[in-house]
This record gives sequence, structure tokens and C-alpha cells, in this order.
Amino acid sequence: MAWTKKDLLDLEYLTAEEITTILDTARSFYEVSTRTIKKVPALRGKTVVNLFYEASTRTRASFEIAEKRLSADVLNVNVSVSSVTKGETLLDTVKNLCAYKIDVIVIRHSVSGSPLYLARNIEASVINAGDGAHEHPTQALLDIYTLRERLGELKGRQIAIVGDIAHSRVARSNIWGLTKLGAKVTVVAPPTLVPRDIERMGVAVSHRLDEAIARADAVNMLRIQREREKQTLFPSLREYSKLFGLDEEKIKDLPEGMLVMHPGPINRGVEISGAVADGPHSVILEQVTNGLAVRMAVLFLVAGGTSLHPESLGT
Ligand code: CP
Repeated sequence: MAWTKKDLLDLEYLTAEEITTILDTARSFYEVSTRTIKKVPALRGKTVVNLFYEASTRTRASFEIAEKRLSADVLNVNVSVSSVTKGETLLDTVKNLCAYKIDVIVIRHSVSGSPLYLARNIEASVINAGDGAHEHPTQALLDIYTLRERLGELKGRQIAIVGDIAHSRVARSNIWGLTKLGAKVTVVAPPTLVPRDIERMGVAVSHRLDEAIARADAVNMLRIQREREKQTLFPSLREYSKLFGLDEEKIKDLPEGMLVMHPGPINRGVEISGAVADGPHSVILEQVTNGLAVRMAVLFLVAGGTSLHPESLGT
């Protein structure tokens, strides 16, 4: 199907067909990064601005590399030394950047809804690189891409998402995306880390990691987001790790093909042991590699690319 949206703000309001279009487009772009010359002219003449108000390693690096591999002109705004420190508002900052006739802005912000607010107020395309506890659509798309590459069709597949569901934009985007593609999602956490009424999103809830992983095709381990907690939600990290952390003992009897995922950054020894993160079930670095292809696809589609002509993907 042809892509029609100006922005990528969330997975809640994408259809299964739109998600599949992004994943299929990403598959075409994956190959570009295996070439000797890892660059195509698909976004030549377009200007992309990366505006990150929160810390990031993977998402920021991945977007920048994706933009450069598509031949876009790239500006990374360092918020900590920008006029944001003098009190400039988000909209003023972005409107000033738009005065340079930029085409796409990639934004990460601690306030949920910031990308939507910008998208309604500027002509440039907006890509949400994570907004508060709301959504992180490109992370979920790369998670789903990885699952689809490994498991094939996701309809009926059992996916467990484990950890700090309450504060996780990754969990929310994964839930929207996976359920639209027909996967069965179980969220696994202590009761204090599960939002009330989450079943309305079409997921099952479990407070037993052993039961949930026994039937899972894949388990996505989330970081405890202490920076977003307003009160202590469990007695200690040690106890959390014992009950909800994934270690070799807990997965020793599981099938070889059961996938262990993590969006990063990892807190080794808390939600996942080093041995599991680096072990044979882990696809964590594969997720990172796939993220590049997914972000190339998203940038290409929102910037107006409609089909993958040979000349746009030529060497
Ligand atoms: N997964 C993720 O968003 O990682 P970063 O915070 O490093 O971008």
C-alpha cells in the first residue's frame, strides 16, 4: 500500500497494513547496509534535524546513520548548549529550525504528546523517537521486524513483555503493534508496575515469570525506569531481580528457538543476567542492526518516498 502519513507519531493510530508497509520497506533497506558502499540517494536534497531532549545512545545513533545512508543532510542539535537553556520553548526552537526549510524532525522528549504537538504546528514531518511514557514507535517497529524475521508470521505467536510496563513507552508501542498483527501479548510484572485496565489494550497480565516464559515464543525484557518512578514500587532491586529478572537458571529448560529481546540500555544483573544477554537465545544486537533498516524505511516514507525505484536504491 502507498504511504500517506506526514508523520510517524505512534503505533496506536497505525493500521496493520501501514505497519506491514514499514516492515516490508525496511526489508528492502536492510540490504543497503551489507554493501561495500552503504549509501543510496533516496533522501538526497532533504534536510533532517535530530532533536533529543533526553539521553539516547541507540536511537540517536541509529537515526543519524540511517539519515546519512539515505544521503540526507543532517543536523544534530545539542540541546544542552542550545538556546533551550535560556528558556526558549519547544515550539519556538522548532519553528526557528523550520525557518531553514528542513524536511524532517526527529524528536525525543520527556513530555508525552510533544511530537503530536509539533506535528500539528509545523509543515515538516515529525518522527517520534520516544515521548515520556507514551510511545517509542520505531523501537517497537524494530522489535516487531526482528520477531517477524525470526518467527515468520506473528499471528497467534506468544510474546511476553516483562518489567516496568507502567513507565514503558516501548511496552505501549509493542502492545499496539503486536496485537494489530495478531500476536498474543502477555505483560509480566509485579502488580505495582502494571497500569490499571491494561487488559483493555488486548493483553493478558501475569505476575509469574516462569509461567509466562514457558509458553512464550519470545520474551522482551524491559529496564526498570527508576528515573520515571514517583514512589518506590517494589521492595528492592535484589528482590525484583530474583522474581522477574531473566537468568540462565530460569531459561535452562526452554526451547532453543525461544528469543530473548531487550530494547536497551541493559542493566545487567537486574532485569537480565549478562549470560542471558550474551547467550544463544539473545537477539539483542540483531534488534540494533534491524533498527537501522527500520529507521531508514520510516525516514524514506515520511519524507515522501512511495516506492523503491531502482535509482533510489542504486549504489
Ligand atoms: N532503546 C532505546 O531507546 O535506547 P536509547 O535510549 O539508547 O536510544
